[in-house]
Amino acid sequence: QPLEAVEDDVSLQGYDHYMLKEIYEQPESLRNAMRGRLDEENATAVFGGLNLTPQQLRSVERIILTGCGTSWHSALVGEYLIEELARIPVSVEYASELRYRNPPIENNTLVFGLTQSGETADTLAALRETKRKGHRTLAICNVVGSSIAQAADGGVYLHAGPEIGVASTKAYTSQCSVLAMLALYFGRIRHLSYEAGTNIIADLMKAPGAVQEALACNEHVKTVAEKYQNATNILYLGRQLNFPTALEGALKLKEISYVHAEGYPAAEMKHGPIALVDETTPSVFIVPQGTTYDKVMANMEEVKARGGPIIAVASKDDPHIDAVADDVIHIPDVPSIIQPIVSVVPLQLLSYHIALLRGCDVDKPRNLAKSVTVE
Ligand code: G6P
Repeated sequence: QPLEAVEDDVSLQGYDHYMLKEIYEQPESLRNAMRGRLDEENATAVFGGLNLTPQQLRSVERIILTGCGTSWHSALVGEYLIEELARIPVSVEYASELRYRNPPIENNTLVFGLTQSGETADTLAALRETKRKGHRTLAICNVVGSSIAQAADGGVYLHAGPEIGVASTKAYTSQCSVLAMLALYFGRIRHLSYEAGTNIIADLMKAPGAVQEALACNEHVKTVAEKYQNATNILYLGRQLNFPTALEGALKLKEISYVHAEGYPAAEMKHGPIALVDETTPSVFIVPQGTTYDKVMANMEEVKARGGPIIAVASKDDPHIDAVADDVIHIPDVPSIIQPIVSVVPLQLLSYHIALLRGCDVDKPRNLAKSVTVE
């Protein structure tokens, strides 16, 4: 056996693939992302490396979140969370667009680059360009000492540990948790009360356990994957905080299964994608309990009426879902700010199993690289 294979065996720790190992590491990687960063006494979050004074952070009037691929999806989650908890306007930009677009950026704008590898060429260039124009740039990054970590004025490390599978999993959920902590932090230096801060900390601390519970769906997800493995087109639909989850679920499937998938805000479906729905085009609805639950259920009925098979990711005690969906994957009922972290888990597993059933190389999908250091 070549040495490389031996090393692989050791680090795979009994898992068949890095992707599966990394999916299962998420309770631990989430604990690592939050370790030492939740300050219960002051009902806020603490970050050692932002390199900005509370006064400078207090004066921030806009935040730009930029990144590529899965990191761009976590930025969309961050947009919801920061606007909701901190009431600071947030713009999400593809780094590849931002670097050449020359948008007007107001004073007191903070730019965050989101990146697992810290080496993505477009994200590095976008941060360098905004920094050159005099804006403060921060990195939310996994790889310590990477190019983007060095180029930024400061930042937050994910502490997710090495992510080997090309399709990002644990780095994504860690990004979501860091963004939630930043939202709490910015909120608490503005209007958020001590009590609200305390409740948010309690919600965040539920994430590792809830992900652990969600992982119990693996065997069931495998049977769902068997049923839908030959689909050539799958829609992923969710609203609000679960819209980025829909995008991320679709990306995971495209990346490693080579099956065409589209993520959409569930209500946008009627403006185009519903034309794709037939008995051979399944739709994955992310529909946990929450404010838009009834609306998403109505969208689901529209798909059902047109004969589209429905896979639902729903809260475990949902009494209505079985009557509408063909297959239901249950996740724990969790507070909305950690829903993106929990609801993405079955979608990661679904893409993993469909890819395996289709004979794809899960950890090294064709045409893709773990870090894209060229334009
Ligand atoms: C590549 C990877 C993706 C990743 C993206 C951004 O395309 O295949 O999984 O999301 O780069 O990478 P980053 O390291 O900047 O998060």
